[in-house]
Amino acid sequence: MADKPFLTDIKTLRERARQHIEQGAVTQGYTADRGTVLKLLNEALATEIVCVLRYKRHYFMASGINAQGVAAEFLQHANEEQVHADQIAARIVQLGAAPDFSPAGLLIRSHSEYVEGASLIEMIREDLIAERIAIDSYREMIGYLGHDDPTTRRMMEGILAMEEEHADDLVSLLEELGSDG
Ligand SMILES: [Fe+2]
Ligand SMILES: [Fe+2]
Repeated sequence: MADKPFLTDIKTLRERARQHIEQGAVTQGYTADRGTVLKLLNEALATEIVCVLRYKRHYFMASGINAQGVAAEFLQHANEEQVHADQIAARIVQLGAAPDFSPAGLLIRSHSEYVEGASLIEMIREDLIAERIAIDSYREMIGYLGHDDPTTRRMMEGILAMEEEHADDLVSLLEELGSDG
């Protein structure tokens, strides 16, 4: 066995922890590029907010045309995207920065788009496309985070898993409505 130490020795760990205590959870061992992580998180936050707004619009429109089952699905997704937005905002604060909730530029920061959709089928299709955009961008983000920021990575992995469920739900809705093309 090589005698490369598995962990930083206790004395060094203790000394390092005493420095820059105002940085809270961000310790000297945080090896990720904080600026990049924060930029990615703010983009993910914008993506989630745009998804909340789009699903809310679709929920109210579907309710108006008496498509209660689909409307309920839209509302559930809207609420889950709101939870994601809150999780991401809390993590940004934990990393010592401020979450960007500004409506100005929201659509530029967001990866997914805000498409209203003229029919129920169009709404579902646009939501599915938005989910697929989020899935790809979050997967890339997780790959980027790697082992440098496991907490942010795990959070994004949980969010990714739910976006995949959303996409699956939407495909099922299209199939039920006889439009999987
Ligand atoms: Fe989400
Ligand atoms: Fe989603």
